[in-house]
Amino acid sequence: MMLKTDPQDPTAAVTHPDPYPFYAALVAERPLYFDDRVGSWVASSAHAVSAVLASELCGVRPAAEHVPSALRGSVAGDLFGKFVRTTDGESHQIRKAALARAIASIGESAVVSASEKCARLLLRSHSPPPEFAYELPTYVMAALLGTPDGDLALVNRLVQAFAGCLAAAADEVAVEHGSAAAVELKAYFSNVLAEHAKSQPGGLYAAIVRELQAVGSENDGVAAANAVGFIFQSRDATAGLIGNGLLALSTRCELRSRVTAERAPARSFVAEVARFDSPVQNTRRYVNRGGAILGRSFKPGDVVLVLLAAANRDPAANERPDEFIVDREERRTFTFGDGSHACPGAQFAMSIAADGIEATLRSGADVSDLARDVRYRPSPNVRIPIFAARG
Ligand code: HEM
Repeated sequence: MMLKTDPQDPTAAVTHPDPYPFYAALVAERPLYFDDRVGSWVASSAHAVSAVLASELCGVRPAAEHVPSALRGSVAGDLFGKFVRTTDGESHQIRKAALARAIASIGESAVVSASEKCARLLLRSHSPPPEFAYELPTYVMAALLGTPDGDLALVNRLVQAFAGCLAAAADEVAVEHGSAAAVELKAYFSNVLAEHAKSQPGGLYAAIVRELQAVGSENDGVAAANAVGFIFQSRDATAGLIGNGLLALSTRCELRSRVTAERAPARSFVAEVARFDSPVQNTRRYVNRGGAILGRSFKPGDVVLVLLAAANRDPAANERPDEFIVDREERRTFTFGDGSHACPGAQFAMSIAADGIEATLRSGADVSDLARDVRYRPSPNVRIPIFAARG
């Protein structure tokens, strides 16, 4: 059992049982400071987080290492280097806008029916919540992209292996497996799905190809890479959102019937979970050009740890930030980022999470005990609960 002492530093906060008093102290006392323990700048207040994410001094990758060195020259590195998430500048803006249009072309009802179908498929072989929460987002995104039902398990397995080679703790074996999976994923999306998309012009993969072609950016497999990126990026974060939602319900039994009864309260509930206990606790920025942000002087090579979860609890952004209020009127959430790299999949994620939570409750799973013994999966940025005796 972990003791509720403050985390040692802002990176340890991600998996700490209750990092929020620690974050609150940073917001109040040191909203933007250099932390010797982690060797980087730390931004925590809403103002500082917004300023760093808007700063032209910073990029999403270190200037000298667009692709992690262990992946350079591999297909995994090639896919990674083409994600909009890993690029800056004009080409990022053009591709990001095209991908956002592709996502916007998919209606809420398509996401709901893909979620319901995938929840049914998964619940045949999984007992919720643990594996189910991980796999539902991957299945739903793959299904929306046009993957036939019979291939969903294959794509899930490949994305899991690919994610393993991008993890901070990846060893040689993980890199090898992930690179092999990347080769298969690239071939699957460029060939099988591209062919399938011709008969599904309303599907997400067809929309990605169409929108990228319209801006002259569908070259060298950018569509296939970003389709893989969509699945990869939805996986852990949405699993965390489902897990943190179940945890919130564990201690708030009065909300359970509300969440299963109607869609609108379920969505507001998930939006409050995202703010209150963010699945993505932080992101990073790399200073590529020297200059000042909020009066502090930054030099090339500096790194900024951007505490999205702390900004969500800044009283300047949200009134009564430490209260869980489903019907908040003006919720300000940094969970999905801010500025030019803000997540284009936020609505998808909240819809999938609402469906995943509802399916878990409807399956008869008892969530009342979940909060009693919780650990968090080791991660530098994603907060995913692991429930004792459940995996
Ligand atoms: C709970 C689930 C999710 C969370 C918390 C989340 C969070 C984020 C955050 C914080 C960023 C910005 C990172 C940064 O600025 O450094 C981001 C970017 C991104 N997300 Fe999500 N995300 C989620 C689900 C999804 C889903 C379902 C998709 C699929 C459509 C997606 C696609 C993307 C993409 C493509 C980017 C890169 C955008 C860019 O760099 O311009 N995300 N996400």
